[in-house]
Amino acid sequence: MNATPPPIRYGEIAPRAPEGAIDLNALLPFDGPLELDIGFGRGRSIFERAAVAPESRILGVEIKSKWAFKVEEKRKRLGLERVRIFADDVRELLPRCGPEGAVTRAFVHFPDPWWKHRHARRFVVAEPFLDAMAFLLCDGGELFVQTDVEDRAIRYRDLIAGHPAFDLATETGFIDSNPYGARSNREHRADEDGLPVHRVLARRRPR
Ligand SMILES: C[S@@+](CC[C@H](N)C(=O)[O-])C[C@H]1O[C@@H](n2cnc3c(N)ncnc32)[C@H](O)[C@@H]1O
Repeated sequence: MNATPPPIRYGEIAPRAPEGAIDLNALLPFDGPLELDIGFGRGRSIFERAAVAPESRILGVEIKSKWAFKVEEKRKRLGLERVRIFADDVRELLPRCGPEGAVTRAFVHFPDPWWKHRHARRFVVAEPFLDAMAFLLCDGGELFVQTDVEDRAIRYRDLIAGHPAFDLATETGFIDSNPYGARSNREHRADEDGLPVHRVLARRRPR
């Protein structure tokens, strides 16, 4: 009789951020713009971005250990030294990161898949996240948030517009297409299904 294999404990084997204060430049000690991919899920956006922007350094943070583990395994197979992957809660991680102004771009593809009022406390795109991004982004640094849920997109746009550290990149805050040459898994699916995607682009105001 075949024995059932033991369950894989992804929480124990997924790559985790170090404890305490994190120097992003020490984490990825290369030249080139530093980019964040927040909640990358199955990670397609990370690999597509690494392919089109090989000069960039990319830190991906995903709360689900299983996805972080799988993306890390693929990263190692591809030998992508300029990419780091952490299985962590970005809300806890980002406030520990520095130095100020280290990040050139942050991507948040299709965040916050929760619809019940009581789950609002789980939201990533909220004021504490914007405060952390205001600290980490360089002057003129880009914050890109996209979703296929229109009222969420409006909420993100309004939140960002109301934060003193950001300027919307267009009058409405929305842009028509993804300018980064890298699409996430959800974005690919939305495109295949013909669903509109709502994209918000903002820039860090000069300090
Ligand atoms: C709807 S999925 C989108 C995944 C991917 N970005 C895409 O577009 O295909 C949202 C992702 O955000 C992750 N996530 C949610 N809260 C998070 C948090 N606090 N820290 C890091 N990742 C988070 C979820 O685990 C999930 O993978």
